[in-house]
Amino acid sequence: MKILIIGSGGREHALVWKIAQSPRLRELYCAPGNPGMESLAKIVPIAADEVEKLLAFAKERRIDLTVVGPELPLSLGIVDRFESEGLRIFGPRRAAAEIETSKVVSKTLMQRYRIPTAEAEVVALEEAYGRIASLKMPIVLKVEGLAAGKGVVIAQDQKEAKEGLDGFKSMGEAARRIILEQFLEGVEATFFVITDGDQVVPLASAQDHKRVYDGDQGPNTGGMGAISPTPRITPEVESQIMERIIRPALRGLAAEGRPYRGVLYAGLMLTPSGPHVLEFNARWGDPETQAVLPRLKTDWVDVMEAALDHRLDQIELQWREESSVCVVLASEGYPGPYRKGEVISGLDRIDLPETIVFHAGTGRRGEEWITQGGRVLGVTALGKTVSDARQRAYRAVDRISFRGMQYRRDIGASAR
Ligand code: AMP
Ligand code: GLY
Repeated sequence: MKILIIGSGGREHALVWKIAQSPRLRELYCAPGNPGMESLAKIVPIAADEVEKLLAFAKERRIDLTVVGPELPLSLGIVDRFESEGLRIFGPRRAAAEIETSKVVSKTLMQRYRIPTAEAEVVALEEAYGRIASLKMPIVLKVEGLAAGKGVVIAQDQKEAKEGLDGFKSMGEAARRIILEQFLEGVEATFFVITDGDQVVPLASAQDHKRVYDGDQGPNTGGMGAISPTPRITPEVESQIMERIIRPALRGLAAEGRPYRGVLYAGLMLTPSGPHVLEFNARWGDPETQAVLPRLKTDWVDVMEAALDHRLDQIELQWREESSVCVVLASEGYPGPYRKGEVISGLDRIDLPETIVFHAGTGRRGEEWITQGGRVLGVTALGKTVSDARQRAYRAVDRISFRGMQYRRDIGASAR
């Protein structure tokens, strides 16, 4: 088979790494990819949002299957477009992807189908100022649309809530409507499934570490590290997630004419009264994927094809027994402004067992590796326990350096 993967981050490197192991693969492409993937896939210089160019490329090269990594092309209807031309592509169509791309669609769906989530109301940005005055604090304010991680504010008091709303003013259409949401206490976790809209197979759990500093301090980021599985999602919690959240969501999406096909990401708060949904994403998570895929033994190409052909009931997934830990190495300043072009050393010294370095934001300058993004690398290691995996991952991290390299030292530290 010829396979094209769309995206360029650590998640896509993990997909490339996994799919490259499929015995069914003949040629692998990644657009726009990153230089860390070059030994496994041909890099195609087309951006993830250039849908027509990607389509032309897939036709010209006779790509058998296209796999979409990030949400942006999904929100542009890349799946609808490829399908209208008779091409096979794995991911949800635009209407189904709105479960991620519109927080109003997502919240309305959860309310209508009684999926446990924070109580919330949707108001226009101008009205929100008046509304917050009569609401209990803390409160969570979210903009409706995609905002690259900047669309959520947790306000402890009226003043912070007002400042949060002020901050949304520059976001244009994405912040036309605001969700005012009850603050939920608990532990966060991620749960992934694959579905064809009807049949659904649970994949794995993970725990992201969203804040930039140790001890969950500092601003939110795209994710500074992940472990998989998370011990917080016991078999009992998993069955609650499937029965109270995943199945009703898929039934609701189908009933509303948005049948969902692809990987579905449930971002959860595990509260004393059970798992509640913070958000759905229409794709794999990043960095969670870098922790999850190294544990999967089954050929992921077979699994995606089973979903496309409505035979997920024939799939039995095999997972490794080990736990995994992924530590993200980021540029100084991230998630704010950061410098690029710092030389990365040590990447040739990672010959450690059960350890993989995924590239997220790297570039080449002559023979050297340089930094090219906020999140630069993801170092994943597997081990018998989370603590073994942690030790291995940090041993590899110790060998890598670049000026201003920042990372959390406590990824997986609280998992027992
Ligand atoms: P979201 O993009 O909706 O997942 O929100 C980003 C982050 O904000 C989450 O990972 C949580 O840490 C936090 N968050 C969002 N909604 C809530 C809520 N209702 N209660 C508490 N924390 C929340
Ligand atoms: N790690 C969070 C996300 O992928 O949305």
